[in-house]
Amino acid sequence: MDRYVILGGPTLQGEVQIGGAKNAALAILAAAVMTNDPVRIENVPAVTDVNVLLKAMEQIGVKIERPDRHTVVIDGSKIESNIINDEYLKRIRASYYLVGALLGKNRQAQVPLPGGCNIGVRAIDQHIKGFSALGAKVRIQHGCISAEAKELRGNHIFLDKVSVGATINIMMASTLATGKTIIENAAKEPHVVDLANFLNSCGANIKGAGTDVIRIKGVERLHGTEYAIIPDQIEAGTYMLASAACHGDVLVRGVIPRHLECITAKLCEIGCHITEYDDAVRVSAPEPLTSTQVKTLPYPGFPTDMQPQITVALGLAQGTSIVTEGIFENRFKYVDELVRMGASIKVEGNMAVITGVPRYSGASITAPDLRAGAALVIAALAAEGETIVEDTRFIERGYEDFELKLKGLGARIEKVSSDRELQKARLKLA
Ligand code: UD1
Repeated sequence: MDRYVILGGPTLQGEVQIGGAKNAALAILAAAVMTNDPVRIENVPAVTDVNVLLKAMEQIGVKIERPDRHTVVIDGSKIESNIINDEYLKRIRASYYLVGALLGKNRQAQVPLPGGCNIGVRAIDQHIKGFSALGAKVRIQHGCISAEAKELRGNHIFLDKVSVGATINIMMASTLATGKTIIENAAKEPHVVDLANFLNSCGANIKGAGTDVIRIKGVERLHGTEYAIIPDQIEAGTYMLASAACHGDVLVRGVIPRHLECITAKLCEIGCHITEYDDAVRVSAPEPLTSTQVKTLPYPGFPTDMQPQITVALGLAQGTSIVTEGIFENRFKYVDELVRMGASIKVEGNMAVITGVPRYSGASITAPDLRAGAALVIAALAAEGETIVEDTRFIERGYEDFELKLKGLGARIEKVSSDRELQKARLKLA
């Protein structure tokens, strides 16, 4: 099992290039099976969640080529089965996008029930409500979700809760339904818009993505396309927060600054200097940061996927900060590890009360989930002494070349896979 060994201390300086958005890629790669023509998708991040999804797609007969590290060509013309048995797939949340895609295309789908990060109950009632409203019979049996329909008909669907996944799934299935679908109270995240743009480039008729009402006129078939995934808002935000926590000066390149506004606003509040360019954001951070209050909300609110990273930065800010988790009910599990590094944080229900400390101190810690893992690495970079982050697999689900990009900013971090390598890395880092 790989580990990161990190010697905290140096400020981060320099430039970092952001890759394609993982969450957009997962939706778009799944949606690409909906046409029988080849689809070329560029700017796909090289992260393990993407590999897991592609592997599962291959198992049902989807032909996949990867002409280079960030390009995937998908040919869904020879799908042999709409039933996916891949046990591994249930480890990623986005597995259920294949339900929307296959139900839309072939009127039948079955996939193992999704897993993903362990951050609380992750209900799928809104997905089921949406599929059922389109006329599908949906069943949860033997750890799988299956959906089947003789005919899919557009409908007016009001989501009881803003859900990225349900919005995406309903959008996919209804694209190839008969008639018009309206999704009210839809999610507005950038990757929802990216999926709509992708599907429209394949001949779909989707309007309103990015607002809370999405209108879809069903079409008979989709055609092939070439499409580039948007930059990853969360990867970018992670490096911005790393710069803040380490009192760095980092230019985060290849981003859409508008997607980062909720993050830049908070960084300004805690005393960081932000300069926005056309496709880059520079974050320079003074010492010390100042406290603030944060509540995670659906886009354009502060993203839940950035909650652990900002908590880590606020743990080093002067005064008392409050972070409220508004999306998932169990997303503060990493706080125990942070407290072991010297943080002063009390969690009550969905709220963390943080009293800033001047420094963290290195420790041996475990990443409980993807974003918390990245946040703990940030804490380690800002800490005095050595930190070992056990098990890098969670982080690699969503961050491409994490340690290499951090090294490029001057961080002292190595990935090691044995005790021998650990000893060598220690000599290198000292
Ligand atoms: C997606 C992202 C994830 C991010 C989350 C919120 C992907 C692959 N994952 O997850 O990184 O943290 O959006 O921005 O894109 N809910 C229900 N019923 C449902 C569906 C959701 O009650 O049918 C609840 C969930 O339990 C959660 C909230 O709605 O409390 C938001 O979930 P949702 O937006 O669906 O998140 P995901 O799509 O799973």
